Amino acid sequence: PRPILLTRHGESRDNVRGRIGGDSVISDSGELYAKKLANFVEKRLKNEKAASIWTSTLQRTILTASPIAGFPKIQWRALDEINAGVCDGMTYEEIKKNMPEEYESRKKDKLRYRYPRGESYLDVIQRLEPVIIELERQRAPVVVISHQAVLRALYAYFADRPLKEIPHIEMPLHTIIEIQMGVTGVQEKRYKLM
Ligand code: G3H
Repeated sequence: PRPILLTRHGESRDNVRGRIGGDSVISDSGELYAKKLANFVEKRLKNEKAASIWTSTLQRTILTASPIAGFPKIQWRALDEINAGVCDGMTYEEIKKNMPEEYESRKKDKLRYRYPRGESYLDVIQRLEPVIIELERQRAPVVVISHQAVLRALYAYFADRPLKEIPHIEMPLHTIIEIQMGVTGVQEKRYKLM
């Protein structure tokens, strides 16, 4: 069996400010995670010559991957964070205050709620299909460095979690989820690096 390693990007400047979306760089703590992740990946995949690192096209994942040496890196737009449309760059407080109806509809049905001019979780799940097909096809390990909403959907696919749970799955920062697909099913290990 070959592992798939899933991780969020290191903490971003927008994470610190509580802003969703955007394309900010990583914080000092995020930089530290990037170094620890590189260390971990280089050791864990030492003899895996065909392994690759997949990121989104957003700076925070590319910067998180940047200290990792020795593996090809591939950027996927399909791994970009859920598009928050008109709410991009806002805090949840600001959404609640300035767009209370949007806030309430999302709370009621987070899976189906689509941000105005943006995406829903269902949209994200759909656009991940080519990524999942390629992940299944790969024989070598893959490290996926992406975002909270996207990783919830990917994780749910591999861990066989029901659709309705996806928007609520816990996806902590600075933690690697290792998925191993073997004949007896899926095994999971977590490494909290910070
Ligand atoms: O910026 C978006 C968040 O990572 C997604 O979190 O779907 O729980 O609001 P949420």
